[in-house]
Amino acid sequence: MTQPLLKVRQAKKVYAMGDEQVWALKGVDLDIQQGEFVAIMGSSGSGKSTMMNLLGCLDIASEGSIAFAGQELSSLTKNELASVRNQRIGFVFQQFNLLPRTSALDNVTLPLLYSNVPESDWASRAKQCLENVGLGSRMDHHPGQLSGGQQQRVAIARALMQDPTIILADEPIASLDPMNAQVVMQTLRDIHEQDGRMVIANLHTLDTARRYCDRVIGMRAGRIVFDGTPEQLTTGVARDIYGADASFSEATTSTQIETPPRRVASLAAL
Ligand SMILES: Nc1ncnc2c1ncn2[C@@H]1O[C@H](COP(=O)(O)OP(=O)(O)O)[C@@H](O)[C@H]1O
Ligand SMILES: [Mg+2]
Repeated sequence: MTQPLLKVRQAKKVYAMGDEQVWALKGVDLDIQQGEFVAIMGSSGSGKSTMMNLLGCLDIASEGSIAFAGQELSSLTKNELASVRNQRIGFVFQQFNLLPRTSALDNVTLPLLYSNVPESDWASRAKQCLENVGLGSRMDHHPGQLSGGQQQRVAIARALMQDPTIILADEPIASLDPMNAQVVMQTLRDIHEQDGRMVIANLHTLDTARRYCDRVIGMRAGRIVFDGTPEQLTTGVARDIYGADASFSEATTSTQIETPPRRVASLAAL
């Protein structure tokens, strides 16, 4: 088998809170191959964002090892880590993080200011990325003129600008209504299928993870407690991941929308 793109061994992360230590990750082992679409699930505080930050080179592990394409991240200097992050990771956040008074096209172009991409390529690349997320007709719109789902798709286009190896999406649909959430997940899925790009998304809803992802990782109190296929993600397993008592109901983590067909005919129409 080929070497996994991400190889995590006994990764731990501790934060200092005054005199106290908070162990956000308590020893995580994980292999993720190029071309996987992975959901990370777990209740608030279980360590999902910490995990994302380590995988995305935004932070470094306190103990253990994380290797990206065979390269141990803890051995890199700050500048080297930043260059892995800028060139190989595309981030998508819950709150979109777009500049409000700036067009979709300019928002998407922004990351290239600090890149090696020649300026003559910026506009064509930005247009292509916006077209890839179904927003070719919205390039001149400012975020305020776009729906939440469209804003998140602008953020996805921005994440694509440097042709990242991995897209890390931390709660990408948590601020969206169910319909927009589906469109954003479909956009990530389409990108994944077109380019075979790795996507890792922190998700809250079981049905979304089952529907769009190939693999689900369940975290609880800084550990991985489930790693399997969507089919294996039964309500009982979910109860274990969320640490819920017998009153746990699937609806509490469901988008509660009637599921639309898997393929959305035209993203631009939505
Ligand atoms: N910068 C930080 N400083 C101190 N504690 C933190 C920090 N980031 C996260 N934590 C703690 O680490 C644990 C895991 O947090 P996090 O990874 O954000 O969980 P999740 O994304 O699953 O909600 C929590 O107990 C949280 O309070
Ligand atoms: Mg989080």
